[in-house]
Formats: sequence, structure tokens, C-alpha cells
Amino acid sequence: MSDLARLYADHLAVLHQRTAEALARGGFDHLVIPSGTLLYQAFDDRDYPYAVNPHFKHWLPVTRAPGSWLVVTPGAKPKLLYLQPFDYWHVVPQAPSGYWVDHFDIVVIRTPEAALPHLPATAARCAIVGEAQSALGEFAPNNPAQVLDYLHYHRAYKTPYEIELMRRASARGVRGHRAAERAFRAGASEFGIHLAYCQAAGQDAMELPYSNIVALDEHAAILHYTDRDRVPPKPVRSFLIDAGASHEGYACDITRTYAWDTGSEFQRLIDAVDAAQQRMCDQVRAGHDYRRLHLDAHLMLAGILREFGILRMSPEAALETGVSSAFFPHGIGHGIGLQVHDVAGFAESDRGGSIPKPDGHPYLRLTRTLEPGMVVTIEPGIYFIDMLLDPLRDSPHADAIDWARIAEFRPYGGIRIEDDVVCTDGEPVNLTREAFAAG
Ligand code: GLY
Ligand code: MN
Ligand code: MN
Repeated sequence: MSDLARLYADHLAVLHQRTAEALARGGFDHLVIPSGTLLYQAFDDRDYPYAVNPHFKHWLPVTRAPGSWLVVTPGAKPKLLYLQPFDYWHVVPQAPSGYWVDHFDIVVIRTPEAALPHLPATAARCAIVGEAQSALGEFAPNNPAQVLDYLHYHRAYKTPYEIELMRRASARGVRGHRAAERAFRAGASEFGIHLAYCQAAGQDAMELPYSNIVALDEHAAILHYTDRDRVPPKPVRSFLIDAGASHEGYACDITRTYAWDTGSEFQRLIDAVDAAQQRMCDQVRAGHDYRRLHLDAHLMLAGILREFGILRMSPEAALETGVSSAFFPHGIGHGIGLQVHDVAGFAESDRGGSIPKPDGHPYLRLTRTLEPGMVVTIEPGIYFIDMLLDPLRDSPHADAIDWARIAEFRPYGGIRIEDDVVCTDGEPVNLTREAFAAG
């Protein structure tokens, strides 16, 4: 048995345990998971990109088999109804193979409706988790809250199998990032850099876990910039790339920022954020409140702004007054795994409830206390965003900001450095830095 096969068997044992408890809480006998269905564009025969139901890919590394179903019944071997249509127009899903197949009773079906006779006898006894459009006869997703609360809460704790897949996703992402940096240094456009990334990562827009952000110069100040200019700006000053990769359904989420002139002050600012980011990553430790990491990140970034003569106020005052949020207007990160922004970031317990965000920090996506097995991103940034800075010019804090320095840095857009970090019983494991070090 390969190492991955062994890790997978252990992973399934954990999922069986969790499922039994989730079903008991909701009073159901079966967990039924549609893989999802294709959705067509209006008045067209073109389908939207298919995204497999994350619950489905939690159980098996199959990400492109729409119309399939998984039935999990405690004490029984899980049943996979695997749709392999007779279709000579499209590539049909391959025959099941690999380390996972022996763990399932697999029934190959040739039409979506053929799943029906193989589903449990009574739909009412089933927790059916998925999107509404997956409904098949009586088997319409009911997404019971008690079941989902339990499953989503525990999904934050990754099994060693999941962490291994995320490690492989990270290696793939880093191959893309290295190629992207080379393309940037060679003078490529945003579009050209994006293509170089996809080529090296071996994935295209359909397979990547989110839309690549490839931003030159001022575009780096647009947090989710997903346009891609076909011509490079003149001059090229800076490059921010936030791009991930997928492996067997698991994501990585990586950001790097580069200066064209590595002797420039902007490079020094990048280096300062990079050093602070590594100290933040070191705080991904069991028992640490992620909200505290977010607020500490504000203090560290405000300290850098002061050191660079951009801000003339203490880090504490910058946080207190909200001034630091004008430069760092997003959260320090989020859980990651089957989805780039993983579910249950605010979950208070596996019975529901919500842990509030700190006042004045609406974009923080994770408020839980870190525990071993959680994988989170750490992605501090400093940006020069007119829409956020302009109101400060007319505020009582205007004098605390050196507007000439802002004008110097504004053409570079901004900086973000993002790694994916595993919380353990001891030292954090930085999947991203490990992958860069290995490749
Ligand atoms: N790539 C999206 C994010 O960093 O959250
Ligand atoms: Mn992220
Ligand atoms: Mn990102």
C-alpha cells in the first residue's frame, strides 16, 4: 500500500466517524451527496464551469463526474453511483481507478436518472447535501443545519491525507509562481504572465481554485484585479501575483510581490512586509485566537508604515483610529482546503453559533481559535488605494500621513505576501515556504 493510500484509508475512517455523528444529530440514516450538475448559459448549449460539490470531493479525489452520487450509511461500505454517460460529443469521466476505488461499492450509471433506483428507499431518511439544481426526483438537497454545522465545523481539521494533497497543490502553485516571476522579469504583459503561470502549473482557468490575480504597477492596488492587460505598462515597476493551484480537489493560495528595480525603496518595503509576514506565520499555533493574529498584523504593518515615513502615529493609534485599515483593508487570511475560502470560519461550535468579527474589521473571514490540523492563509498587505486614502485627507488624521511619501509609493500599487500554514501541536508548518524551498 502506498503512503497516500494508507493516509487515504485513515482519512476515510475520520469521515465515517464524523458522518455517523452528524447523522445522529440530525436524526437521519444516510448521507447522500450529489457531485453536482452542469449549468447551461441562458438560451445556449454552453455550460458554465463545473465545480464539484466540496462534500463529494472530501470523500474521493474525483472532481469531474457531474451527475454522480455518493451514499454513506453508517456501518456499510459507501456506495458511489458513478455517471459515465454514453456520449461521443464530450470526454466522459474515466473508469474509476486508483487508491480510492476499493473503499466504495461502485455502480456505473449511464444516465442521470439511472441513479434513482440505487438511492436509499426513503428520501425522508436522508440528509442530502448539495445545490438545489442537483435534485433528482424526491432526492432534493435538504441541507439539514445540524448535519452541516457538524460537518463544516470539523472540516477545519484536516487529516494528514488532506495536508499531503495541499502540499502537492502548493508544489504545483510554486512552479507557476516561479515561471510567472521569470515572465515578469522578461517584460511580459499581465496576460503573458498569466499564460506562463498556467503553463508551468499545468492548469487552466477551469482547474485553478480561483481566478489568478496578475497585477502590474497600480493594478496591484485593486485587491481582486482579474483583468489581464495584453500590453505591459511603461514603465513596469511592480508585480503582485495571487495565484493558486489544485490537487485532487484541494487548493493552495499563494501571493508574492516583486519590484522591477530590486535596489528600490519599494523592494525594501516588500522585504519589510515579507519579514513581518514570516513572524505572523510563526503565530499559527494551537490556542491562538485568529482575531488576535489579525489585529497584531495591523500593529506590525502600521509599524512598517511608520518606519518608512508614511505614517506618523503609533501602531496602536493607527489600529484604534482605523487608519491602518486604509492601508490594509482586508483580513489577515482564512481557512483553506477543499475550497480556497473554506467553510465555517466563524463557527462557534459543531452545533452552530457564530464568533463575531472585531468591530471595524468586516472582511476578516476567520474568527476561530487555532487548533492542530487547521490550515490557514497568512496574507498581510500594504496598498495605496485612492478610494480609501482620499477620505483621510479631510480627516483629523491627515497630518499623521506623509502625502508626499504616498505619492512616491502609489505608482507601485501595493504589496501582499500570502502563505498557507498548518497549525500543529508544535511548530507551524508553512506549506508555501516549504514548496519554494524544495523547488
Ligand atoms: N486569492 C484570494 C485570497 O487570497 O483570499
Ligand atoms: Mn487568501
Ligand atoms: Mn490569495
